[in-house]
Amino acid sequence: MCGIVAYKGKKDCYPILLSGLKKLEYRGYDSAGVASIINNKINITKRAGKVKELENAINSKKSSQNCGGLGIAHTRWATHGEPNQKNAHPHLDQSKKISLVHNGIIENYDPIKKFLKSKKITFKSDTDTEVLVQLIGYFYNKGKLDFEQSVRAALQRVDGAYGIVVLNVDFPEMMIAARRGSPLVLGIKEGEFFIGSDISPIVSYTQQIIYLNDSEMAVINKNNYQIKSVEKDVALPKKVEKIDYKIDDFDKGKFKHFMHKEIHEQVTTIGNTLKARSTKNSVLLHGLSEYWEEIQSADKIYITACGTSWHAGLIGKNLIERFAKVPVHVEYASEFRYNHSIIDNKTVVIAISQSGETADTLAAIAKANDYGAITIGICNVPGSSVSRETKCGVHTRCGHEIGVASTKAFTAQITVLYFFALKLADSKKTMTKSVMKKYLDLSMWPKYMDDIKSVLKKEKSIKKIAEKYQNASDFLYLGRGLNFPVALEGALKLKEISYIHAEGYPAAEMKHGPIALVDKNMPNVFIVPKDKTYDKIISNIEEIKSRKGKIIIVTDSRDKILRDLADDLILVPKTTHYMFVILATIVLQLFSYFIAVAKGCDVDQPRNLAKSVTVE
Ligand code: F6R
Repeated sequence: MCGIVAYKGKKDCYPILLSGLKKLEYRGYDSAGVASIINNKINITKRAGKVKELENAINSKKSSQNCGGLGIAHTRWATHGEPNQKNAHPHLDQSKKISLVHNGIIENYDPIKKFLKSKKITFKSDTDTEVLVQLIGYFYNKGKLDFEQSVRAALQRVDGAYGIVVLNVDFPEMMIAARRGSPLVLGIKEGEFFIGSDISPIVSYTQQIIYLNDSEMAVINKNNYQIKSVEKDVALPKKVEKIDYKIDDFDKGKFKHFMHKEIHEQVTTIGNTLKARSTKNSVLLHGLSEYWEEIQSADKIYITACGTSWHAGLIGKNLIERFAKVPVHVEYASEFRYNHSIIDNKTVVIAISQSGETADTLAAIAKANDYGAITIGICNVPGSSVSRETKCGVHTRCGHEIGVASTKAFTAQITVLYFFALKLADSKKTMTKSVMKKYLDLSMWPKYMDDIKSVLKKEKSIKKIAEKYQNASDFLYLGRGLNFPVALEGALKLKEISYIHAEGYPAAEMKHGPIALVDKNMPNVFIVPKDKTYDKIISNIEEIKSRKGKIIIVTDSRDKILRDLADDLILVPKTTHYMFVILATIVLQLFSYFIAVAKGCDVDQPRNLAKSVTVE
């Protein structure tokens, strides 16, 4: 994964690179570095840890340096080699003339490394990336190929994925970028060029953008640029696109953590989606209009995604099958790519992604497109790879999500899927007009918002319960039907930010194995709406209770039975199936948030994670 930003222009590159890295930190934050050309030498500063460490290091050196207008920078999420300073990017070739930043994985790094070692090239890091820069250096230093030809020659010999930017001291006015499988964007302004692994480090400077495709390279020299093929030295005609996208300033407001702020923002984000996507008798999903004929006549739907977005997909399946009676399969994007799903031009493939840059999801979209499926993106970032590579789509528009643990994006995805299911049901006439009217009762939206507010108001009591369980080492989360994915999501949130082991299960499935874990120390979180599964869940609770497990219940039911069974009970307002899912999710988000805070964890940037997983 990792983030890349590069600059060529007249300004000091460091402030531009550092502010770009901060915007890209969602892609990885275990180390960071910059390289620029100063006095005919590549000057590199790298630090293990977050971009702040790098910024401090640069600021302490800077007074004595003219940093120049050409530089490359990187924030890393380690794949090959520990997350330390030695393995941080940029990397250098042996001659110290060429420096490179890289996203992706060079899969055949081992044979290339052996070959280079046989040529007396020594390595300073444990990374696959260093192999690539050394290979470029090897070709360049043999003297037969120029800089651009050397980059091309090396890229033609590597397998795997790359998005790279390369500098060479012998060409102090030049920067070369290339991609295969790992997105890169070129931003163009009068006399200035910006490269990013997405548009986030670029949009505040220019909205003139070229998205590089696979096997394309951007060769920037003085005030000119050319887009060429990696395969051959031919220029490719390429359109400059004007993007209309702003990135809000990152501001925690009155909150200590972005995650907490984003949990609270759900009143607005869900409210906005409800209002923007509905009228009293129809659902508005304009991004799908061009393909709606094909979508409504498709014979099956696949939903593909990763992590939290995959959980939203499970909820989507339930809603679509319930409302529109179309079979839906939900697959992890990483599995979808390699399995044998039956996909053709009568299949809809919905890819869900907050960031729009998740490599597994992009690979699944590529496969679905290859098979002729109607690909739909449900994505939060306009201009992202998922938005561009699907045939049509819906933006969740819940604003930048910065906390690594996804919160408001999940509930926005569910809301969009809810509307998608209703629209499909309407088109397929699987729902009567009167039922549809009930679901699109706009006068309910303010009540939904009030319900969310009332859950958020309970956060003091949720905090107390969370603190009580902060030392547990394992949790079970149990729910049925629509609330089984809520259980999975609750468990994932807890694992991610508090490092406590947690599993989500369908409540009844728990007795087929996981119940062996239950003892007096084990908290079990039950999600219990008063619906047709209620009686069965009570039996499941009893089964845990009789093994002395601790019972935490999230419910909309005021029953005495539940109060008697629960060690702790969190009551949410009585509402619809859809809204219960949202309210229970928010309770569980707050619950894991307060446990993580009580344990002193880094809530917004948990260990080993990144906001966007851009390697497969
Ligand atoms: C969990 C989380 C991850 C992401 C997953 C997919 O809180 O954030 O599980 O949901 O990596 O990311 P997107 O949605 O950006 O494709």
